Amino acid sequence: MTNSSFNTLRAGFRRSAWMVLTLILAMGLLYASEPIQYPNNFRLWVHVGTGVILPGGPIPESEQGMHHIFANQKAVDGYASGNFADGSVVVYELREARQQNGIIFEGSRRRVDVMIKDSNLYKNTGGWRFERFMGNGQTEDVIHDSGASCFECHKKANAHGFVISQIH
Ligand code: HEC
Repeated sequence: MTNSSFNTLRAGFRRSAWMVLTLILAMGLLYASEPIQYPNNFRLWVHVGTGVILPGGPIPESEQGMHHIFANQKAVDGYASGNFADGSVVVYELREARQQNGIIFEGSRRRVDVMIKDSNLYKNTGGWRFERFMGNGQTEDVIHDSGASCFECHKKANAHGFVISQIH
């Protein structure tokens, strides 16, 4: 083999080594930023409870409306024991509260907040991943602090696995 063809071969090897390395790095990054998980069909899960927050009280506009909480089966077991197994999912759905002729009923969806339990991945937030989807969006999670601000409130419920609501 001539010197120059040897050099070309060596450069080729080096290039493919870089490509493999870049690919591994890209896969690592993808894995590190866990994919968004929208809770499909959560309205068919167990209904934990509903609350209505009307204007005029101390609670800010962003929280006003009618909210429903739904739990998947693993989370339902967690509600009873206070110990939520990995795979538990709880959804807080906020809708507009419409009032007409003394009747309050739900309007359009304002947002969907989600808690997903994975004790290995989300150690800083009690083992929960927090997600927030605005309106009917299902692809954009608007939380950019890994759920730290959500956990500020939820950590107060540490005696019940960081889940604030109860099934009565
Ligand atoms: C100011 C305090 C506060 C903050 C901040 C907060 N939450 Fe909550 N969250 C609550 C309360 C109170 C409830 C219970 C509401 C009820 O029982 O009707 C709740 C309930 C929930 C539930 C239903 C499960 C449960 O714990 O009862 C989910 C899911 C949820 N929140 C997600 C989030 C997400 C996601 C964020 C951050 C984007 C967040 N929360 C930030 C106070 C807070």
